[in-house]
Amino acid sequence: MTKAWGGRFSERGGQEAVNFTASLPFDRRLYVEDLEGSVAHARMLAKQGIIEAAEAEAIAAGLKLIKDEIDGGRFPFRLEHEDIHLNIERRLIELIGPVGGKLHTARSRNDQVAVDMHLYLKRQIGEVISLVRGLQRVVLRRAEEHLGDGGSPATLMPGYTHLQRAQPILFSQHLMAYFFMLQRDCGRLKDCRRRTDVSPLGAGALAGTTFPIDRQATAQALGFPAVYENSLDAVSDRDYLVEFLAAASLVMVHLSRLAEELVLWSTAEFGFVEVDDAYATGSSIMPQKKNPDVAELVRGKAGRVYGSLMGLLTVLKGLPLAYHSDLQEDKERTFDAIDTVKASLRATAGMLESLRVDRDRMSRAVRQDFSNATDLADYLAKKGLPFREAHEVVGRAVAACLARGCYLVDLRLDELRAFSALIEGDVYEAISPEQCVAARSSRGGTAPEQVRLQISLAQAIMESAQAP
Ligand code: ARG
Repeated sequence: MTKAWGGRFSERGGQEAVNFTASLPFDRRLYVEDLEGSVAHARMLAKQGIIEAAEAEAIAAGLKLIKDEIDGGRFPFRLEHEDIHLNIERRLIELIGPVGGKLHTARSRNDQVAVDMHLYLKRQIGEVISLVRGLQRVVLRRAEEHLGDGGSPATLMPGYTHLQRAQPILFSQHLMAYFFMLQRDCGRLKDCRRRTDVSPLGAGALAGTTFPIDRQATAQALGFPAVYENSLDAVSDRDYLVEFLAAASLVMVHLSRLAEELVLWSTAEFGFVEVDDAYATGSSIMPQKKNPDVAELVRGKAGRVYGSLMGLLTVLKGLPLAYHSDLQEDKERTFDAIDTVKASLRATAGMLESLRVDRDRMSRAVRQDFSNATDLADYLAKKGLPFREAHEVVGRAVAACLARGCYLVDLRLDELRAFSALIEGDVYEAISPEQCVAARSSRGGTAPEQVRLQISLAQAIMESAQAP
């Protein structure tokens, strides 16, 4: 069969060039959007008197047959027709005859592919947001569960800086940090969706068209609240994809940090958590191993998404206006990032949902520890000692404990008073892990009432979140 653009060409293209230029293997996934865009375009052509109403309806009916064929796995995809757009158009002509050739009036593949991608991405952003919301719900549930109530005490753990134990915190406080990161991710995704929600259809190849089209009508039919104001911009713009890849990269930053913590905490050295068997695998040689593969892969897959972002930026750099085939390189990166971020969000939610948390082991880590040293310094500072001096005093006490192989709470009152006469009997209460946590009641701090506030704010956010 001849090419859609075959008129000017004398010879058939070589197979190698066909394979090299075809985007069909990956842009097939745009078929739903491509068909919708074409139906909207055909009906607009009829409304404007550019083609007959009966012709538009014949085209729409043919496109419906094609949808059924593709849905049913019966569509004859042909690589020599390059991409999904030409495959559908060729098939349309096969099915309904020459009138199918009227569909491409006042349109170019350049605005066609652009409108397909805008439609596809805005839908996918909705799905990504739903998955982020799903993970937020799991984070929130687990944070509530570990906050403690009348019956069970809250789960304490060491908070770290430099991966060294720093100050005791609530496990719920740690989890809620992720809730708010994910909340910003939702904001970024929605923001990007606003700029994706603009119709490029009607820009033609680059300069508009000589036919009296109605761009507003196709935009409206496809649910776009706005149209691109400049035709060259409309066919050249890939900013919205870069923005999506950047937002997706940040989602992956967040997931990879949580994944890394789950990997670390699953080690015998930490022993804070155990991932469910469903999220782990064994070793082919070491029978005792239980590897947190899913977490490792979430961490690793972050690299794919950043790679897509860098890759697309590189494709776009210095590219003159308007359309070039380079722009076809936007698709695999965007699709891969969408698939990766969705799969990573699902996996992380499942893993966190089923995670076993060893409360005892976590809380032991804050008892046999110096993470209450700041609290002893704060205790002295509250009794009037300048904080810098208090820091020095406690540093000496810590050094003495290290030399003796004990912790601050193990020193007798007279031993503690040798470091500062300001220390009194109430010191033991002040430096107990529970008190260390309870005392950090500044806004956003780890004190239970502050974490409870975060949780109620998060619940309100989840309740008011509109459908993505
Ligand atoms: N497959 C192409 C792409 O993905 C469609 C647009 C082709 N336009 C062209 N003038 N060759 O970008």
